[in-house]
Amino acid sequence: MPCVVVVGHAPVAARVGQTLLEVCDEHGILMETACGGFAACNSCRVRVLEGELTPVDEAEVPFLDRPDHRLGCQARVTADVVIEMDPGH
Ligand code: FES
Repeated sequence: MPCVVVVGHAPVAARVGQTLLEVCDEHGILMETACGGFAACNSCRVRVLEGELTPVDEAEVPFLDRPDHRLGCQARVTADVVIEMDPGH
């Protein structure tokens, strides 16, 4: 099982194909989700420090200011990854 590390939290095990939001929800890590996970609010944005996720979805593009940004509600786990919360405003 892939390991997901959210900076400031203990590492957690994830299943391939889970969104980062699903992983955080499952492990009690607070990820802001103003739009409910529909790629419409930017509050779940994260920065990827290590590892990779599924390719960027078209719905994410308007919210990504940097190449290492992803939306936690859209990006899915493929392997070990280290992220930090980086909400958009
Ligand atoms: S929860 Fe709103 S964009 Fe992800």
